[in-house]
Amino acid sequence: MNKRHFLRATALASLAIAGSTVFAQDNIFKIGLILPMTGQQATTGRQIEAAAKLYMAQNGDTVAGKKIQLIIKDDTSIPDVTKRMAQELIVNDKVNVLAGFGITPSALATAPLATQSKTPQVVMAAATSSITEASPYIVRTSFTLPQAAVAIADWAPKNGIKKVVTLVSDYGPGLDAEKFFKDRLTFNGGTIVDSLRVPMRNPDFAPFLQKVRDLKPDALFVFVPSGAGAAVMKQFLERGMDKAGIKLIGPGDITDDDQLNDMGDGALGVVTSHHYSAAHPSAVNKKFVEAFKKANNNLRPNFMAVGGYDGMRVIYEALKATKGQGGGDALLAAMKGQIFESPRGPIFIDAQTRDIVQNIYLRKVEKKDGQLYNVEFDVIKDVKDPGKAR
Ligand code: PHB
Repeated sequence: MNKRHFLRATALASLAIAGSTVFAQDNIFKIGLILPMTGQQATTGRQIEAAAKLYMAQNGDTVAGKKIQLIIKDDTSIPDVTKRMAQELIVNDKVNVLAGFGITPSALATAPLATQSKTPQVVMAAATSSITEASPYIVRTSFTLPQAAVAIADWAPKNGIKKVVTLVSDYGPGLDAEKFFKDRLTFNGGTIVDSLRVPMRNPDFAPFLQKVRDLKPDALFVFVPSGAGAAVMKQFLERGMDKAGIKLIGPGDITDDDQLNDMGDGALGVVTSHHYSAAHPSAVNKKFVEAFKKANNNLRPNFMAVGGYDGMRVIYEALKATKGQGGGDALLAAMKGQIFESPRGPIFIDAQTRDIVQNIYLRKVEKKDGQLYNVEFDVIKDVKDPGKAR
């Protein structure tokens, strides 16, 4: 090949490469996954990232002719950072979907951007009831605190627990848990002796637990966000609250599968209500737990992981239903009304509220094969968010 021919050939080749790059860009479907990968909520980020990657490994990274690209950002669970990252993902990366959101303030900070840019925002973790009302582009695959809190408020008085002190993280999900537990327990003839609130960040539970000991209720109801449960359990046991006859109850965030097995036998017998247990006895869940552990150095999936895994499925199915064409509105429409079997059991995305409808289970911490698990012993089927009826 002479020099001229060579130059011409390389010029043509680079054009072809440029052309295929443009073509490739068109065929990429981008999911901006904003998670707390460091800081107090890091376990949530680790669980959801692992679950999203597992879903992709199991279901392929090409859907309806589009190559799925996951762009993971660490917001350190600071809402201003979440918002800035969401903005960059929308404007610079031109993501098709935003997903993740480890805590309520992060989900709420992003909501106006989802609305303005018509980008579906799949909330995989945050669980304050009102989140789905903050933008018509929000779809939730986690749970709501009212869903979980009402179930334990029905269980408690039937099981000898009449006088209860509540202790919650002082922000959205904690206030929801406190209110919905209190209203239902009181309706059921029980009494709230005191309602205590601890700061969301770096809480010191000691002075609060001392107060609870002095008040001597039948039970202490606790909500703390995923990742903080082990600290509460440790101090609860160290202060001998269980020996003083005070039971620990609450939504299952307190006996989080991410930490439960390290809490020690003091956790045995604790009853909670929640939408997911790694011990959920279904074939779909067994397969999920095995694959998750295998891919993640034996890490046990928790309720955050299942929110991430199902969130990916909702996105994949929406992309399939829109035959890879989906703009924001079309994708959103295809997310509404999805119904399928999750590792947690059957779930449904309510088309009206865009919130999740799911079973809530009552569970007791028991030892199985030498490990601590939340073993389900009762179920309330197809629970809608009670917070939406206000
Ligand atoms: C929330 O901030 O909405 C949140 C975080 C962790 C939980 C539950 C709710 O375990």
